[in-house]
This record gives sequence, C-alpha cells and structure tokens, in this order.
Amino acid sequence: MTGQLLFSTSLISPEVQADLPPGYKIRPLASDDYERGFLDTLTVLTEIGDISKAQFLERFNYLKQHNHEYFTIVILSPDDRVVGAGTVFVERKFIRNTGLVGHIEDIAVNKNQQGKKLGLRCGKSINGLLTIVLSSYIQSPGAAANLILINVFIVLHLTYLVLTVILDCSEKNVPFYEKCGFTRKEVEMAWYC
Ligand code: ACO
Repeated sequence: MTGQLLFSTSLISPEVQADLPPGYKIRPLASDDYERGFLDTLTVLTEIGDISKAQFLERFNYLKQHNHEYFTIVILSPDDRVVGAGTVFVERKFIRNTGLVGHIEDIAVNKNQQGKKLGLRCGKSINGLLTIVLSSYIQSPGAAANLILINVFIVLHLTYLVLTVILDCSEKNVPFYEKCGFTRKEVEMAWYC
C-alpha cells in the first residue's frame, strides 16, 4: 500500500518505467516516502537536517496544494526503498509573451545505485512530464487548477510553446546533463544570506 501521491501517475511516462531495471518503479512522491528513505536519498545533494515526519508532511501537503506547478518524482528499488528523486517546478513569466520556465531541481540517486541510468530516467521522466503539463497550459491558458485533469495524451509539439528548461549544477555534473540533452549557457551567481 502506498500513501497519498503528490500528483497523478498519468504524468509519468510508461516508456521511462519500461526502461528501468527489472523490479524498479517510478512514480510521484508519496506521503509515506519518509519511511522509504526519501530524505536519505537527498543526502547525496547536501546536508538535509533532522527533519521529523510532521515537517515532511507539512511540506508534502504544501506541494500537493500546488501540484499544478510542483512535481517531485521518485524511483523505488525492488525492495520498495526510494533510491532516486527529482523535482521540477514551472515558473510563469511576463517576458517572452508570458512564457513558461521549467526549473529542474534536486536530481539525486543513492550512492550505491549510481551508474544504473536511474538519474537519466529521472531526467527523461521530468522532460516527459513537462511536455504534458506545459502543453495543457496551451490547451487551457489560465486554467491552472485544472491542468492535471486535462487529457494528458493531447501532447502538442513544444515548438508552439515559449518554453525554457533550466537547471544549476556543479562542474562535475556537466557531462551528465549534457547526456540528458542540456547545453551550457550563461553564468550562475549566488548570494548566501
Ligand atoms: N560525469 C560524467 N558522466 C556522468 C556523470 C558525471 N559526474 N554522472 C553520470 N554520467 C554519465 C553516465 O556515465 C551515463 O553515461 P552513458 O549513458 O554514456 O553510459 C549517463 O551520464 C547517465 O548516467 P546515470 O547512470 O543515469 O547517472 P546516475 O544514476 O548515477 O545519476 C547523478 C547521476 C544524478 C548526477 C548522480 O550521480 C547523483 O545523484 N549525484 C549526486 C547528487 C547530484 O550531484 N545531483 C545533481 C545536482 S544538480 C540538479 O539537481 C539540477
């Protein structure tokens, strides 16, 4: 039994699921993934802190209320542990004719599961999800709350969209993201306060 899912499984590409190693699954983040080691998986990214189940659920519930623009997916191993994760959120711009920007964040694969193409599958699943979600923005501009209810199989060509997908990563991950189809662009700056 899996808890409440963050968003509809119809946004997860069946092709990506089929390409996973046998016994592995890909799905939206669930309310009981705290127990499946979701936060442990994120430790490959940075320090996580001592997060209680209540804190996890508070954040999960916030994201669920905004699940037309926040999407976190997880990959589970055959023993039902979270071993991979990734998030995308959609920003609505004024510029570029009220364009949309997809921000890819926190792609993480457990250290002992790296090199099995799980990171690549996470990235592909996010790309597929963005294609569906952003196409439905075009189908029904302004109806954000209904996005996920729109027939997800109506996938328009992205050339009709003013769309950018961006991410920040360390120098050592550049070759990984190049394999995911990204190219290097501009410069990142940070301000720590
Ligand atoms: N340098 C060069 N090539 C790489 C690297 C790397 N650091 N990482 C993966 N690749 C290559 C693989 O060799 C493979 O190439 P191939 O298709 O020619 O065989 C391809 O990229 C796909 O690799 P995967 O097996 O899918 O990679 P993995 O499952 O190990 O996930 C990831 C890669 C997510 C970067 C993982 O190593 C990880 O979690 N690292 C720590 C956390 C991290 O840095 N995440 C990215 C943060 S940036 C962000 O989230 C926007």
